[in-house]
Amino acid sequence: MDFNLKTNEKGNLSIGGANALELAEEYGTPLYVADEDRIRDNYNRINKAFTDQYKDFKIFYACKANTNLAVMRILEEEGSSIDAVSPGEIYTSLLAGYSPDRILFTGNNTTNEELEFALESGVRINLDSTSALERLAKLPGAEGREISFRVNPKVGAGHHDHCITGGDLSKFGVMEEEAVNAYRQAIDLGFKPVGIHSHIGSGILDPEPFKLAVHTLMDTAGHVYRELGVEFDFIDFGGGMGIPYTPQESLLDINKFAEEIVGLFKEKMYQYNMGNPTLCLEPGRYIVGDASYLLTRVNTIKHSYRKFAGVDAGFNTLLRPTMYGSYHHIVRANDPLAEPSQEIDIAGNICESGDLFARGRPMPDLKEGDLLAILNAGAYAFSMSSQYNSRPRAAEVLVKDGESDLIRERETFADILSKQNLPARLLK
Ligand code: LLP
Repeated sequence: MDFNLKTNEKGNLSIGGANALELAEEYGTPLYVADEDRIRDNYNRINKAFTDQYKDFKIFYACKANTNLAVMRILEEEGSSIDAVSPGEIYTSLLAGYSPDRILFTGNNTTNEELEFALESGVRINLDSTSALERLAKLPGAEGREISFRVNPKVGAGHHDHCITGGDLSKFGVMEEEAVNAYRQAIDLGFKPVGIHSHIGSGILDPEPFKLAVHTLMDTAGHVYRELGVEFDFIDFGGGMGIPYTPQESLLDINKFAEEIVGLFKEKMYQYNMGNPTLCLEPGRYIVGDASYLLTRVNTIKHSYRKFAGVDAGFNTLLRPTMYGSYHHIVRANDPLAEPSQEIDIAGNICESGDLFARGRPMPDLKEGDLLAILNAGAYAFSMSSQYNSRPRAAEVLVKDGESDLIRERETFADILSKQNLPARLLK
C-alpha cells in the first residue's frame, strides 16, 4: 500500500489540492484536515460496487467514525442514510439534514429516556435486546411502531479484540437462537418488525468472517419468515469494511467483496423465497478513514535511552495507537516521499508513557519545527478525542479544490472549563 500520497510542485504534501505546510501555518497544529473529494469518492465506490450487483441497496454511514457536521452534510448530499448509536448522534444527524426515516438507531444498553428520545424523533429503532423491547413497549407512542433486532450471528472479527462485536464474548445483539422468539414477542406487543441487523466488528480486511455472518443472518431471517411470516423490508449486515493502515496491508477489493456478499444474499433470499428486501451496510471507516490527515509539529528532538521526536498532539487528539496499538503511517509533510534514514519513537505531549504514535519507526531525518502528517486519521480519530491533561481539542478543516474551510474551531481553555461550577462556599 503506497497510501496514494500527493505532492505539489515543491514536493510538499498536498491534501485536496492544498499545501499541508500552509494549512498548518494558517490554522495552527494539531490540525485535522479532511479531503472532501476523497469522502465522496469512497462513498460512491462502495455504493456503486453494491448497486451494480443489487439495485435495492442502501448505505447507513456509521457516523460514530466522524460526526463532524460538514462530513455528515457531504454524505447527506450523496444520498447516504445514518447508523446512529446514541441520542447525540440522532440529534447531530437531524441537524445535518437527514430525515428521521434515513436514521437507524442501534443503541446498546439503552435507557428508557434514550428509547423515548428515539421514538419522539421518529427514527427507525433497531433493538439490541428483548429488555429494550419490553421497556420500549411501555412508552407512549410505541404501539404499532416499526422495529428491527440486532442479532449476534455467532461470528466476530476485527483489527483488535475491543472491536469484535459478534461471537461468544460480545455484549451486542440478541442470540441467533432467540431471534424467532424475540420477533414473536415484538408482534405480540404490537410492534411491526421490518428488519434484521448484525454487525460483527470493525477493521475487517478478510471477507470470510463477514460472509459467515451473512450466511447466518440470512438463515435467521429465513427462519423468522417461515415461523412467523415476517417479510423483512431490510436486512442490514452492519459495517466493518477495513482500510489498509500499514504499508504491508492491501486495499479490500470492494467489487469482489460486493459480488460475494450479494451472491450469498441472493442465494439465501431465493432459498427462503423472501421477496426483495433492501440490502443495507453501515460502513464508517471505509468512507472517512483515509480522507483525513492529522498535522502535528515536532517541537522536541531528544536522545535518552531512545531517540524521540516529540510532537504537539497526544493520545487526547488521536487515541488509536495507544488504545489498540494501531499503526498509523506518518510522513514528513515537506517531503512525504523522503526515504527513511533512522528509527525513532514519535511521542505525544500527554503525561503518560503510553502516549506514543510510533515506536522505532523508520523515518527520514527529523528536526524541531518539522511538520508531520499522520495518515488515516478520518475515522475514530477526532470522534474519540478528549481534553485529557486539560488540552483543548484540535481544529478541523475541510479542503476542496485547494480551498480550505475551518469546520471546527480549536477549543479554548474556557471551553474546557465551561461546564464546571464552584460551590458558593468555595468562591473567592
Ligand atoms: N455499525 C455498527 C452497529 C457499529 O457498531 C459500527 C462500529 C459500525 C457500523 C461501523 O464500523 P466500521 O465500518 O467503521 O468499521 N474505535 C474503533 C472502531 C470501533 C467501531 C465501533 N462500531 C477503532 O478506532 O478502530
